[in-house]
Amino acid sequence: MSTLTRRAFSRQTLGSLVTFSLLETLIGGDVLADEVKPVTAKWLAELDALGRDVRGQKLKQVDWQKKVEELMARVDMQDLLKFIDFDKLAATAKPRERGELSLRAKFPQVEGLPTDLVFGHQIFALGKNRSVVPHGHDNMATAFLILQGTFDGKHYDRLADEKDHMIIAPTIDRQFTVGECTTVSDHKDNVHWFKSTGDAGFIFNIHVLNVDAKSGKRTGRVYIDPNGEKLAGNKIRARRIKEDEAVKLYG
Ligand SMILES: [Fe+2]
Repeated sequence: MSTLTRRAFSRQTLGSLVTFSLLETLIGGDVLADEVKPVTAKWLAELDALGRDVRGQKLKQVDWQKKVEELMARVDMQDLLKFIDFDKLAATAKPRERGELSLRAKFPQVEGLPTDLVFGHQIFALGKNRSVVPHGHDNMATAFLILQGTFDGKHYDRLADEKDHMIIAPTIDRQFTVGECTTVSDHKDNVHWFKSTGDAGFIFNIHVLNVDAKSGKRTGRVYIDPNGEKLAGNKIRARRIKEDEAVKLYG
């Protein structure tokens, strides 16, 4: 390593399959010093690799969901919270009167963690009884991981699109607490809605935008009102609404 600068190390190993094993080897010594948060850096790098695979169509979206959920279940929560400087972030966050406040977590620069992550990330802060309002997604794969608090979490499959409505069916409806996770794709559990039931709720969110370049759909949220006409087979005809109405109704 003495003849290899850090910059060269990054350039030569980023995105390559040897990154993680090399990183582990280096962490074993004292090359990367004590600024490194090895557990979470590796975890995020794995998340990034899965994101690249799903975007490159090497991984089906539903398989990405399974793998991300497995990875999320292995998170070292204490290390992740340190990594994103959560205490400072939570202390300065002032939740909005309705809906979620989106905070940008700054990741420390750590060797081996790609700086150009394929996924976007944010932390949602929510006061008691406030919600990440019900919405579906176009051309997006996304995941929620609860960092603090308790939530009523709901997901729905998006079965069909009509001009002004979306036909949905409930898939997940339960309480969530710290360390628990759910995922969204165009093919499974596309609609979600999380209501904070404790005093202060924080959710870590990652999102892979334009997950399918061939879909032709603009990546983004599609707000709906899940309190719609009940149809046979546990289905619901949910009205498509604008964000401000969703926040007014459910935020
Ligand atoms: Fe979402």
